[in-house]
Amino acid sequence: MTTKERLIIFDTTLRDGEQSPGAAMTKDEKLRIARQLEKLRVDVIEAGFPASSDGDFEAVTAIARAIRGSTVCALSRTSDSDIRRAGAAIRGARSGRIHTFIATSPLHMEKKLRMTPEQVLEDAVNAVRLAREFTDDVEFSAEDAGRSELDFLCQIVEAVISAGARTVNLPDTVGYNLPDQYANTIRLIRERVPNSDKAVFSVHCHNDLGLAVANSLAAVLKGGARQVECTINGLGERAGNASLEEIVMAIRTRQDLFPCDTGIDTTQIVATSRLVSGITGFPVQPNKAVVGANAFAHESGIHQDGVLKSRDTYEIMKAEDVGWRTNKLVLGKLSGRSAFRNRLKELGIEMESEAAVLAAFKRFKELADKKREIFDEDIQALVSEEEATHYFEHYRLVYVKSGVETGETPQARVVVAVDGAEQEAQAQGSGPVDAVFKAVESIACSNADLLLFSVNNITSGSDAQGEVTVRLSKGGRVVNGQGADTDIITASAKAYVNALNKLHSNLERIHPQV
Ligand code: KIV
Ligand code: ZN
Repeated sequence: MTTKERLIIFDTTLRDGEQSPGAAMTKDEKLRIARQLEKLRVDVIEAGFPASSDGDFEAVTAIARAIRGSTVCALSRTSDSDIRRAGAAIRGARSGRIHTFIATSPLHMEKKLRMTPEQVLEDAVNAVRLAREFTDDVEFSAEDAGRSELDFLCQIVEAVISAGARTVNLPDTVGYNLPDQYANTIRLIRERVPNSDKAVFSVHCHNDLGLAVANSLAAVLKGGARQVECTINGLGERAGNASLEEIVMAIRTRQDLFPCDTGIDTTQIVATSRLVSGITGFPVQPNKAVVGANAFAHESGIHQDGVLKSRDTYEIMKAEDVGWRTNKLVLGKLSGRSAFRNRLKELGIEMESEAAVLAAFKRFKELADKKREIFDEDIQALVSEEEATHYFEHYRLVYVKSGVETGETPQARVVVAVDGAEQEAQAQGSGPVDAVFKAVESIACSNADLLLFSVNNITSGSDAQGEVTVRLSKGGRVVNGQGADTDIITASAKAYVNALNKLHSNLERIHPQV
C-alpha cells in the first residue's frame, strides 16, 4: 500500500474572501466561520490582515486564541510595522503563521511599488527574517508571480528560503495564467532553485478567466505544489479565488491520478458553504459545482432512470459525502430554551453572551409561531441576524406594512428607530419592496445606490423563510445587508436596514494590495 503525500489546504475566506466588495465581516462573524473551518479540518486558516485595521487585528487575535485544530495565519506586507502587528495578532495561537508578500512582476515593481528588483529582494528577505522572530512558520508570497520573470522568481525564492521561509507561494494574482503554463512555472522553479526541497510550494489562483481551480490542480498534479490557497464558495477579490470545495472534491474523486490527498472532512462542506453565504450575503448559484442546490439534482428522465438503476451512471460523488442531506427537522413551536441551546452547540454556534442567546431564542419563538418546522438553516439565519443587529444598531426596523392591490400603486409604511428615536414614513413604489425601500430611505437619507437585491429561500416549502440580500454603495464603499423572514417584504426591509447600518459603521480597512 502506498501512502499519499498530504496536500495542505490553506483557506483564505476570511482574508482574500473578505476582499470581495461587500463581504466585510465582523469579528464575531469571522470567529464563527473560523470555528466551522476548523471543523472542516482545513490545515491553515488565513484569518486576516492585522495591519489593515484595529478590527482586523482584534479578529485575528480572537481567532488565534480560539482555534486549536488548524494553524492560524496573519497576512502582512513586508514593512516592519506590518510584520510586528501580524506577530502580535497570532501570539495566542497554538500554531501561528505569518504570511508576508511583495510583488515581483516588472509591472507591479515599476508602476505600483516604484522599486527595483534588488530592493524588492532585500525587502522580502528582511521581512522573512523579522517574521521568523515571531514564529518558525513563515510563508512568503511573490505577488503577481503569474506575470513575473522566471529568473527573478528563482532568485527571490532561493533567498527567502535561505532567510527561513517554510512555504513559498507563487500566486496568479490576476488570473492570467493557463493550466500548463502555470504548472510549468512551479515545476521549473522547484527544479532550478537549489534549496527548493526546504519549502512547501503553494499556489494561489484568481478566477478572472474562470481557471482558478484548473490552474491550482495542474500545479499540484504537474508542478509539485503541495499547498493550495482557496476559499469557500470561491469567494475573493474580483472574480474570486479557487473554490475549496471544488479543489478538495476533485482531488478526492480523482485519487487515481493525484499523488496526494487532503485532510478535509468533506461532510462539513455544505454546512460551511451555507454559513459563509449566509454571513457574507453572497448567494451560491444553483448550478455551482459541489455546493449549488442543483449539484446533485437530476432533471432529465434518462438521467433519473439511470441513477435509480445505478447511481454511478450519472454521479461521480455522493451527495452525502459533501454534507447534503434532506432538511432535518430540528425544533418546533414547543421546543424549549435548553433544546435551542443544545442545537446551537451541535451547530458549533457560540454566541457571545447569555443575553444574545436569549434574544436569538426569542426570535426563534417568533419564527416558530409563523413556521411549523424549524430547520438548521433557519437557526443559522436567525443567529446571523441576531449578530448583525447586535453589532450595527444605528437604525432599527420597528414596523413595516406594505400592500399591493391589482391596479393600485403599491404603498408602504415603516417605523425605524434612529439611535433609539422612532420615526415614521410612508412611500409609494413600483412594487411593495420598492415602496418599503423608499420609505426607509426617506428616514435614513443615505443617498446610497442600490446595486443588488436578491431573494433566496432558506429551506424548501412555501412557508420557508426568504433570505434577502441588499447591496448598497456609497462613496466607493460597498456593503451587503441581509434579512430573513417568512414574509419577504419584512425580510427585504430588514436587509435594507442592515445594509444601512453597515454603511454607517466603521468596517473600513486598508487593502493589502493597494
Ligand atoms: O492574490 C494575491 O497575490 C494575494 C497575495 C496577497 C497572496 O492575495
Ligand atoms: Zn489573492
